[in-house]
Amino acid sequence: MKKVKMTVDKVFVVAPVDKRIYGSFIEHLGRAVYGGIYQPGHESADEDGFRRDVMQLVKELDVPVIRYPGGNFVSNFFWEDSVGPISERKPRLELAWRSLEPNTFGLGEFSRWAAKVNAEMMMAVNLGTRGIADACNLLEYCNHPSGTKYSELRRTHGVEEPYNIKLWCLGNEMDGEWQLGRKTMDEYGRLSEETAKAMKLIDPTIELVSCGSSFKDMPTFPQWEATTLEYNYEYVDYISLHQYYGNATGDSWDYLAQSDDMEEFIHTVTSVCDFVKAKKRSRKTINLSFDEWNVWFHSKAEEEDITVNHAWQTAPALLEDHYNFEDALMVGLMMITLLKNADRVKIACLAQLVNVIAPIMTDAKGGAWKQTIYYPFFHASKYGRGTVLHTVCDSPVHETSGHGMVADIVSVAVFSEEREELNIFAVNRNLAEDLLLEIDMRSFGDYQAIEKIEMISDDLKAENTLFEERVKPYVSGDIRLEGGKAETVLKKASWNVIRLGKLY
Ligand code: AHR
Repeated sequence: MKKVKMTVDKVFVVAPVDKRIYGSFIEHLGRAVYGGIYQPGHESADEDGFRRDVMQLVKELDVPVIRYPGGNFVSNFFWEDSVGPISERKPRLELAWRSLEPNTFGLGEFSRWAAKVNAEMMMAVNLGTRGIADACNLLEYCNHPSGTKYSELRRTHGVEEPYNIKLWCLGNEMDGEWQLGRKTMDEYGRLSEETAKAMKLIDPTIELVSCGSSFKDMPTFPQWEATTLEYNYEYVDYISLHQYYGNATGDSWDYLAQSDDMEEFIHTVTSVCDFVKAKKRSRKTINLSFDEWNVWFHSKAEEEDITVNHAWQTAPALLEDHYNFEDALMVGLMMITLLKNADRVKIACLAQLVNVIAPIMTDAKGGAWKQTIYYPFFHASKYGRGTVLHTVCDSPVHETSGHGMVADIVSVAVFSEEREELNIFAVNRNLAEDLLLEIDMRSFGDYQAIEKIEMISDDLKAENTLFEERVKPYVSGDIRLEGGKAETVLKKASWNVIRLGKLY
């Protein structure tokens, strides 16, 4: 068996993990809201119509921040339609996904739901079909205490205290030709600058996210980032990155190599932010909000069919990717990549949370269940709080069709001083060979093995359903510790959480 040597030392710090790296996303899209988090009449619905079974799984994921209400949806969102007495709200044509939006769930309902799952809201404003004034009105409605037109409107809606939403996205994917009200980079640069300026006058405590490119292969990437930041640098705090991957060619080795693209994407955006910083002679650093990331490709044909041939349904089954085992490995790889870059990635949103390209699925009449991708995210969120450490790892490599030679092992170490734990997340993306991992962790003195959590499968295409969980983690005792060195086998095609710490 080939050996992989890893060295971890507590003094080699990358950065503390910002807990918002474990964020997620709920868009008014498909069955995310209606039939997902909200289903009055369902046997598990609470007094607000929120599904308790879903809330339970969301709480287990411990998601600290949730982006809302879109996504593409936000670019034609009229927030006034979503507030006030439900009986007076009117349905609207929802153009991004060509659905019917009943507006029976809106801003106030989302805020209540988010509080119940212990999450903060990350709100997006419509810079597609609307602009500065509406963004300001919405912010006044949400964050101003009282005594003004929109703060009083909120109070008449029964919400005395402001929502105090701290994190705001300045539009969504404004470079995309699919986006309603798409902008050129100069148009978006100016509009976001002026919107940000006005919003910070209303509430200087908020943080703003400027729209970056919709994905790394956009033709205007990375000029978009450079140009738009030159306009709005003074007023924004983060720039967004979005990226979805998939195994469209059926080549699993190459599929799992795509996390290296994500790493490159992060490094390029970081460099562009710092280029603009230098050009402006600024002392301020713009950090990254990777506010859409996941695997998305299984459901593309259904999406095309529904939006083109079966428009204007309420909550159609859109973007319902059914994930398999290799998708879970890919999500694990992406999560590790985000953590490795914790010095600049401060916010990340797994897109999305329920039913729509989601770790959690619901059955209209039955329960809620966990997709394969639930687990790597769950483990990272549970055991990946603390400080990311540099790991030196001499992994063997393998050849791929589209990404050249890539490392077999992708890993990250998170040290929690408070819990006295060192947790190492590792994917063996060699689909044919087990590897022996040897960790030199001498600086951790008397740490011992707590447990090793593994996910493996003989079938890369194995999926979970409401009735059967074919892909799930199990705990193994496979860690040997001696003389400051730990040893364990990373099985071929596996997700691993190696947990070390003080045992009292
Ligand atoms: O998450 C699904 C969609 O993907 C979002 O609406 C959009 O922002 C992105 O293209």
